[in-house]
Amino acid sequence: MHLFKRTNIKAIKKHYDQFTDTYLEVVDSAIQSHRSSDEQGMFDYYIDIMGIQDGMKLLDAGCGICGPAIYFARKNDVYIDAMNISATQIDIAKQKIDDYKLNDKITAVAGDFHLMHRYFDKSTYDIVYFLEAYGHSTNQNGLLESAAQVLKKGGVLYIKDYFRKDLPEMKHVNKIANLMNKKYAYNLPCLYHTLSMLRHLNFEILKVGKPGFNDDGGVGSVKFSEKSNIKLFKKESDMFSYADVFEILVKK
Ligand SMILES: C[S@@+](CC[C@H](N)C(=O)[O-])C[C@H]1O[C@@H](n2cnc3c(N)ncnc32)[C@H](O)[C@@H]1O
Repeated sequence: MHLFKRTNIKAIKKHYDQFTDTYLEVVDSAIQSHRSSDEQGMFDYYIDIMGIQDGMKLLDAGCGICGPAIYFARKNDVYIDAMNISATQIDIAKQKIDDYKLNDKITAVAGDFHLMHRYFDKSTYDIVYFLEAYGHSTNQNGLLESAAQVLKKGGVLYIKDYFRKDLPEMKHVNKIANLMNKKYAYNLPCLYHTLSMLRHLNFEILKVGKPGFNDDGGVGSVKFSEKSNIKLFKKESDMFSYADVFEILVKK
């Protein structure tokens, strides 16, 4: 049996303290590895798939520097609570929210999203979303339970992230996944386990699939790997696809 090494909150904070500047050298504003070269087009896709509309209240769980939240709040008349464990990123987010004069539309707080049910009112949000943030979770079941508590009845939860592949060579998949977890402070999730937890929480599954925007073919992610010197493979011929990107949309 293969033991998965769990990443902890301290390692996540450290990762973003160390690498936020490098991430910001290679992205426009969204700290996402699976991304489009047209960031605004990617954000418009998220608006469509989540069904973001005027008058809604949103919770951005693992908000980065609020790149997505700022775009959503400029495009729609929405209110967003944005939460991030990285105080470094929250400081940058607050400055950007000020610059865009969005203080009445976005509130950014430093905190652990596993505790969102303690920070925010229950049964309040139309949408809770995780954009490449769920995969950092140190307690996925607790996290999904917490999200379920703050969502309104009929509200939706959207997750876009990497999920561990299921291949005959699981030993190899797990080896690289463990390395990825260590280097990116991740806890690469399992798609089926995630769906099972969501179903146990009585969520209605609306969509599971590939995000529908055109990705940049990994260009951004390679740039980050070169600048940060975080490498999972020693040479190109060792490269091996160990994870898939999926989006999951469920309704409470
Ligand atoms: C890959 S970045 C994505 C950022 C953002 N969603 C975006 O699209 O720009 C992952 C984010 O999740 C945050 N995060 C990880 N674990 C967290 C936790 N336990 N509580 C709150 N935020 C967390 C990280 O600090 C980071 O901002």
